[in-house]
Amino acid sequence: MIPQCQGRLSRRYIALIVFIGVGFVLYNNFHPQDYIGATKVGPVKYIPSSYDWSRNPVKYPVEDMKSPPTAEPKKLPPVQRQWQESTEGHISLARKTAVKKAFVKSWDAYKTYAWAQDELKPLSRKGKQSFSGWSAQLVDALDTLWLMDMKEDFQLAVEQIALIDWAKTDDDFLNLFEVTIRHLGGLLAAYDLSGEQLLLSKAIELGDMLYATFDTPNRLPSHWLYFTKAKQGEQKADDSMSGAAGCSMGLEFTRLSQITGDPKYYDATERVKQFIYRNQNNTKLPGLWPHTMNYRQETVETAMFTLGAGADSLYEYLPKMHAILGGLDPEYVQMTTQALDTATKHLLYRPINPNDDNILMAGNAVAGKSRVELTTEMQHLTCFIGGTYGLAGKLMSREDFVDLGSRLTAGCIWAYDSFPTNIMPEIAELKRCPDIDGKCSYEELKSLSSSPTLPPGFTRVRDARYLLRPEAIESVFYMWRITGDEIWRDAAWRMWEGIVKETENDVAFASIADVRHEGSKKEDSMETFWMSETLKYFWLIFEDHNVLNLDDWVLNTEAHPFKRPKS
Ligand SMILES: *[C@@H]1O[C@H](CO)[C@@H](O)[C@H](O)[C@H]1NC(C)=O
Repeated sequence: MIPQCQGRLSRRYIALIVFIGVGFVLYNNFHPQDYIGATKVGPVKYIPSSYDWSRNPVKYPVEDMKSPPTAEPKKLPPVQRQWQESTEGHISLARKTAVKKAFVKSWDAYKTYAWAQDELKPLSRKGKQSFSGWSAQLVDALDTLWLMDMKEDFQLAVEQIALIDWAKTDDDFLNLFEVTIRHLGGLLAAYDLSGEQLLLSKAIELGDMLYATFDTPNRLPSHWLYFTKAKQGEQKADDSMSGAAGCSMGLEFTRLSQITGDPKYYDATERVKQFIYRNQNNTKLPGLWPHTMNYRQETVETAMFTLGAGADSLYEYLPKMHAILGGLDPEYVQMTTQALDTATKHLLYRPINPNDDNILMAGNAVAGKSRVELTTEMQHLTCFIGGTYGLAGKLMSREDFVDLGSRLTAGCIWAYDSFPTNIMPEIAELKRCPDIDGKCSYEELKSLSSSPTLPPGFTRVRDARYLLRPEAIESVFYMWRITGDEIWRDAAWRMWEGIVKETENDVAFASIADVRHEGSKKEDSMETFWMSETLKYFWLIFEDHNVLNLDDWVLNTEAHPFKRPKS
């Protein structure tokens, strides 16, 4: 009796547990919002955002809406070397295949452990929400999937993206810059490559939301879009925001206007451009814009100048806007050449190095009353600038810029080569030659000897991490496409081998704590730019030069390609 009874009881108990378990699984997989309001687009389920920002009342309407220039695009000088033959060979094919293998590994890990979340944590094998929870990694990796011919995974990603509801997030705010370059840039690029309409629909919904950030008394934006405040028309431009955060949405907003024919997005960022155009000569270092600016009062009074963190993409977007507008806005040529000429004079310096290589780096400056004080810092983030000089030099027929770009890129390669891991640190300080040209012998200056733990020429490593960043390889990519000189491909491969050796783990790739020692401790982070930028640039270097030809495409600051207009 007793055992039987116990048996029956435990069977019921098991049945109950199973019932609860099944219910739990069903409950967790059933998201009512996946069905309520869902429509079908072809075979794909699509969820329009539950809040339509295009109908949000505008508190500060625009009176004189500006449109992108409509004249016939100009024929700009070619950016790429005019190759007669294919640039594919045995070696480049093997190297390209190795890069793709790393991408597939990273993607598979994301798919397995973090699907539809913002990022993969490669050590704990979990997902992480870091940009409002709209599948940042999916959106950021889309165009790389397409380029690497992973069309099935591309389709899977599109189906997931069709379910994104921009109104559904745990936060009451979003980061205008980060969401613009990653999500809006990623969607528009994948649309430009594939023609997939679902992506354009999601981009428009998102663009309408981001546009609300510009609904302020002077129509300049703030760093954050606060949803509640924006719905009530209570947003103001920030009184202190970096140049990069406020002034590098132009490519994405312009492309959205070009594709949709609705000028409002272009109008929004054109006003920001007018603010910096008007003030380029009014700063403490005329020609450059300070690291932070007052967008509310429209003043530019702070004294720190850099091409690195906080400023970077403002400068990067100047020549790229010239390209995407088909050369029809001369103000971008003026701003680019003045900015780069001033940067050359005040921010570039030549690191002293044992090979006496003619390399350059870009540091920071503080502009005082009588003089400009240069700090010979080196940031990984600043390494994009070689590519920007190169691109601007080509588009604006300034061969001196191309030459400077080449020396700046060589500077970052030198920094990679200087460490035993073959990877450059996040931030370091260097010894400099008196001038960027002329005599500078390492032998003569050796008395300023480095500490034994530092590579020659370095005085301090301030942040020894490597975060899987793309900027150095990005410039190598530009120099390769511009010159076709194999030294850039060889350098890329040395960097690649170092990075793979130090950052790969059993499932994916991870940031490392210290580039000064081989076998460094890894950190639980693989930021989304690894799959959208770093791997894409490495892969493109070994791919044929006609894939994403820079005479047809312009890449945003997250390496998302947009079509350039053609005459
Ligand atoms: C700034 O100064 C330069 C020359 O010093 C001039 O060519 C340019 O037009 C000025 N920019 C503006 C916006 O006035």
